[in-house]
Amino acid sequence: MPRFLSARPDSRLIPLPWQIPLEDWPTEHLVALPRGISRHVVRFIKVGNSVYAAKEVIETSAVHEYRMLQELTRMDTPSVEPLAVITKRIGLDGEPLDPVLVTRHLEFSLPYRALFSKGVRAETVSRLLDAMVVLLARLHLIGFLWLDVSLSNILFRRDAGEFAAYLVDAETAEMHETLTAGQREHDLTIATTNLYGEFCDLEAGRLLDESLDPLTLVESILSRYRDLWNELTAAEEFSGAELHRIENRVRRLNALGFDVAELDITTAADGSTVRIQPKVVDAGHHTRRLLRLTGLDVEENQARRLLNDLDTYRFHTGQQDLDEPLVAHQWLTRCFEAVVTAVPADLRGKREPAQLFHEVLDYRWYQSQRENREVPLVEATWGYINDVLRTLPDEVITDTIKPGDDDQRRLANPYDPSQGFLDDDEEAPFDPWEDVPSDEEEEESLPASGYLDMRALRGRAAGTP
Ligand SMILES: Nc1ncnc2c1ncn2[C@@H]1O[C@H](COP(=O)(O)OP(=O)(O)O)[C@@H](O)[C@H]1O
Ligand SMILES: [Mg+2]
Repeated sequence: MPRFLSARPDSRLIPLPWQIPLEDWPTEHLVALPRGISRHVVRFIKVGNSVYAAKEVIETSAVHEYRMLQELTRMDTPSVEPLAVITKRIGLDGEPLDPVLVTRHLEFSLPYRALFSKGVRAETVSRLLDAMVVLLARLHLIGFLWLDVSLSNILFRRDAGEFAAYLVDAETAEMHETLTAGQREHDLTIATTNLYGEFCDLEAGRLLDESLDPLTLVESILSRYRDLWNELTAAEEFSGAELHRIENRVRRLNALGFDVAELDITTAADGSTVRIQPKVVDAGHHTRRLLRLTGLDVEENQARRLLNDLDTYRFHTGQQDLDEPLVAHQWLTRCFEAVVTAVPADLRGKREPAQLFHEVLDYRWYQSQRENREVPLVEATWGYINDVLRTLPDEVITDTIKPGDDDQRRLANPYDPSQGFLDDDEEAPFDPWEDVPSDEEEEESLPASGYLDMRALRGRAAGTP
């Protein structure tokens, strides 16, 4: 009898065929979705209306990874959410089978190979690296030593105009009270080694913009990380006459999307100098405020944008004196839900609701500028649906890669894209999203900077693209 270890058990997992190795599971339980390269057998499984990721892995690793992911979820750090570990599996031949770790499939997430599809702009690579560095700094701030930083172990989600990075593989990770500089350096070394390999691989597959060089890219990870870490944690000393610099520092940190949990301020006995040392935590302020007001749980930049729209709505309707939650409820039904439900059912898989609303607001802004008038939300929504949404590839894919789909090259195993094509000479890892044209390509190409784009981060925090 298999054993289920889970904090929030899903009884629908129990009748699944645990006595069969994951690799041989009948396709009725599987969903073909894009995913990154993996060491273990990973499959996406369908349980009722939910999609979970299942990974077959030895017992100590499975339980350890489950606990690590649980800890990250508890601390609100972006990672996949663990659901269960199934142990004590016995095969049909009576031999024991490795346990399976089950996590919730991270919707609308993009493995990096899907993002690079037919080559991405240098600017996009820069934004992906920034998202990765922010994730790494957030993990390090809470004492999480990853030890397996790589693009294959990160999932990216669109967050307004940027990307948000999520940790997907915590098998090797360790949790400490705090990390030493040496431990953080070690993670950075692993990151540069792995990413160098991954970028070379993309280059060999001609998926990397020609202006980009793997070595320069990975070197930039170090400078990006150090810039951010310094800004987040370095002590600052100034004269007692410049006390406004305390507030400056806090504002700068807030502007990067972080909050100050504690500010350690020491002054010289004669008051001539002041030294401040911030203890920084994750912000997520806008996400939490929006959740409290509307029940919508979205990414930080999307939350900021939605809250701006809510504030504008409040102003336009002259309801400044009304209770905020009341106005928020009105805005939710009259604006947000009105836009989301206007989308025809067959187009709903293209954008997640908060991102859709954000893009409609963008569309309305451009149209208003172009036509020099205040375009109503309803009109902008329809314009967006017809001009933009219809032309976009699906981001949520359910059963789109049908085993018999012949208009594309055939995958050796549609439930395991890493096995490549049937007619492949070499075993190139393949992601089915690579065949979907990316809307990134149409945007204007900008040179990538080798540094963490502090200005862009601040721009994000201020809600200006
Ligand atoms: N919960 C999840 N949501 C979405 N994708 C997932 C999830 N879990 C795993 N994946 C995909 O499977 C890939 C391999 O998972 P990972 O845990 O890194 O396995 P391995 O330990 O074998 O490297 C990831 O790169 C990711 O694309
Ligand atoms: Mg992995």
